[in-house]
Amino acid sequence: MTEQLRPDGSLRHLLTLETLTRSQIERLLERSQSFVRPLGESPPRSAALAGRTVANLFTEPSTRTRVSFELAAKRLGATAVNLEVQLSSRVKGESMLDTVYTLQSLHVDTFVIRDAQPGVPGLVATHVAPHVSVLSAGEAHLSHPTQGLLDALTVYQRKQRFAGLAIAIVGDIRHSRVARSAWHAFSRLGVSDLRIAAPAALMPDAEEFQDCSRHTQLASALRGADVVMMLRIQRERMGAADLPEDEEYFAAWGLTAERLALARRDAIVMHPQPMNRGIEIASDVADGPQSVIRDQVRNGVAVRMAVLAEVLGAHA
Ligand code: NCD
Repeated sequence: MTEQLRPDGSLRHLLTLETLTRSQIERLLERSQSFVRPLGESPPRSAALAGRTVANLFTEPSTRTRVSFELAAKRLGATAVNLEVQLSSRVKGESMLDTVYTLQSLHVDTFVIRDAQPGVPGLVATHVAPHVSVLSAGEAHLSHPTQGLLDALTVYQRKQRFAGLAIAIVGDIRHSRVARSAWHAFSRLGVSDLRIAAPAALMPDAEEFQDCSRHTQLASALRGADVVMMLRIQRERMGAADLPEDEEYFAAWGLTAERLALARRDAIVMHPQPMNRGIEIASDVADGPQSVIRDQVRNGVAVRMAVLAEVLGAHA
């Protein structure tokens, strides 16, 4: 695994939350919270990253992650560039590295990388110059560290604690990098009752999520939960034969208001988006009073500002 820390212990790359300590995660969350503003107020701005250049290299579709990394960089005074990397023009990392070397020559000092192939952010991190940082914006089904941080921040804002919470992550856990990074964050932060719920075909292998209870029925996962995180079926990571029918899936696994009533009355509903309304979540739940889905998006910019400031050593 690529080393994420500099010899002095500071964060240089962010590729996974798996190897961060609880206090490193807490520090990032505190820093993130300092960048959160209520909607309607202007977002914080500074020149902390003036002269720095952040490049977004995304080979998979993205709306929120890409825009929020771009806004985060700009709000801290950095220059942000977006490169449309076509999957077809790239052969197994090699040409990605050439792209990276080119951008590095143009004074890019932070790469934000999303890629469908495992190992790409780590590969880039091992090849860039010592002053350059790499941030994963989603690596295959394996990790999505800034999403894990924004999910943890969203829970903390509403619950003011992690200890004693029951958190249910529901849906296509097997193919979800969001579930893996949420699991890394929540277990490191001391959530003791972590539940994963999925139909058998979408359950991860036994070696993963070992500290989570496994539920093959939605009801048992929801009962008494403080937090319910719903996930999309990652169709792009499955063969057509493995795909469940939409109606059948909604009937067994869709989060409806009736089912949400099994959770605690003050339970919050999360979803990383993109959402498939009427498949994994009913529209009235997604837009309902318990939903914090839009807070998650708002928190995403704050988390990315904190991570950029952290790796670039800025006093923002
Ligand atoms: C997710 C992703 O790309 O992993 N989206 C996101 O970044 N919020 C989730 C998904 O695609 O289902």
